[in-house]
Amino acid sequence: MIDTALEKRVEEAISRLFGRDYAQDSFLQKTANSRFGDYQSNFALNAAGRLGKKPRDIAAALADELKRDPVFERIEVAGPGFINMTLTREFLSGAVYQGISPREEQPDEGVVIIDYSSPNIAKPMHVGHLRSTVIGDSIKRIYRFLGYKVIADNHLGDWGTQFGKLIVAYRRWLDEKEYGLSPVDELERIYVKFAREAEKDPALEEEARRELVRLQEHDPENIALWEEFVRVSLQEYDKVYQRLGIEFDIMYGESHYHDLMPDIVRELQEKEVARISEGAVVVFFDEKESLHPCIIRKKDGAFLYATSELACIAFRKEHYHLHSLLYVTDARQETHFKQIFNIAGRLGWNIDLVHIPFGLMGLKEGHFSTRKGNVIKLKELIDEAVARARAVVEEKNPELSEEEKDIIAEAVGIGAVKYADLSQNRLSNVTFDWDKMLSFEGNTAPYLQYTHARIRSLYRKATETGLELPPENVILIENETERALALALTQLPATVRRAADSYRPNLIADQLFDIAQKYNTFYNSLPVLKEDRSTALSRLQLSVRTGEALKAGLGLLGITAVERM
Ligand code: ARG
Repeated sequence: MIDTALEKRVEEAISRLFGRDYAQDSFLQKTANSRFGDYQSNFALNAAGRLGKKPRDIAAALADELKRDPVFERIEVAGPGFINMTLTREFLSGAVYQGISPREEQPDEGVVIIDYSSPNIAKPMHVGHLRSTVIGDSIKRIYRFLGYKVIADNHLGDWGTQFGKLIVAYRRWLDEKEYGLSPVDELERIYVKFAREAEKDPALEEEARRELVRLQEHDPENIALWEEFVRVSLQEYDKVYQRLGIEFDIMYGESHYHDLMPDIVRELQEKEVARISEGAVVVFFDEKESLHPCIIRKKDGAFLYATSELACIAFRKEHYHLHSLLYVTDARQETHFKQIFNIAGRLGWNIDLVHIPFGLMGLKEGHFSTRKGNVIKLKELIDEAVARARAVVEEKNPELSEEEKDIIAEAVGIGAVKYADLSQNRLSNVTFDWDKMLSFEGNTAPYLQYTHARIRSLYRKATETGLELPPENVILIENETERALALALTQLPATVRRAADSYRPNLIADQLFDIAQKYNTFYNSLPVLKEDRSTALSRLQLSVRTGEALKAGLGLLGITAVERM
């Protein structure tokens, strides 16, 4: 990893000059403009106060030290004390040749469990579910790539008060024919109907509560209905997951923790983290936390979302050697997780718990709402994206077989949808826009896929003309265009690391876009196959490495790179 390796080099130089205490941070940054070299450090400015020296003097001393390192072609002190560093072409060539590859799995580091997607049973998956699903999936791929043992857990919302209501609604209003055609849509319809009817007739709520209690007491009829709701829902979700290439390792759902909940309530009370308040079991928080009390068990004995959450953590803690637990949900659950993490800490559970929130997806007109009927189903979105991609393939590559067109359209359409989400800052709210989501121009997956396909096509042509790449490094960095591309490529591994540390796949998207743009500049201005043999081979190998980097990077976003487009 080039800049991690660079960081070490700079830190070691700092340590030699000023002692280890100062070597924690090299303040290294990529430069935006090559006038300032490839990387810049403002260590001197940051450490001046602590060292009691002038920044320029610190910078000068550090620059002299760095100049002895053969990986640098040039070291300069600039402005009030910046150090600009330029790498040698040999070093860049070696790093590009080395490329990017996954680290072997390190089970001793413990398991990273990622909890994502997690839809609520009996509701169709709509675009709102896209974010957790694709962000979680990408984080999973990134951590696996970095050698972590990862367990992908789809924590289904398959337990809770909605099931009492569904059971009542099912018995009263189910339209058998509709249910046969599209079971989850029908379940949603009767669920919405229940809410409307219950406003007029509050006795329905009472009935639903009774059915819920019977379900929780494992009444066979209600259990059978519940199982059916889960089964038909999963059948439908699986179709979406399969198309999106999303796989889970476990899918326990909230119901799995039902029997563990009484133990949690007991532990909370024994450790005096929770107490009885007005008949309920409640956790109160320190004033400085500014969190409202968290109800663990209601007066009527019912457990809540927080209860199953805690039971779930207890279960995972007991069954896995944990590295960390990551939860990918929208930002509205921030308070919930703050409460839960606080409680887990007070119970003395020593676990690295991380909430990875994301912004909401809405429409220009406001929020999606089932009631308003403006919800876009995930399946519709995917179909539309693939159809648009199919039309483009048809236009650009009519000679391909129908089968190949289908495969490409699927990869491109789904790639566009995923990338439209993953390339954004995770925390920003997203306004759903068909054209933006399905755009194939600019910073989009199709642009990256196209760049990859272009490289593959160049490679095929080279092979046809008898130009064969030797196994060793033949990359010569002969001009600024090649240099800029090489530098962008060498930054990918460290970008992946940063994306993992900050749970931000968009950093990878940005780096890939930068690489693709630089590659296209290279491709459009520098001939490859027409050159003499050594230049042709060098450019071909640089191209092939770029293709591999794009493919690997897209893979981390869950997007397939195709051979032609
Ligand atoms: N089912 C929940 C929802 O749709 C998300 C669950 C997230 N995971 C968790 N462990 N709380 O909002």
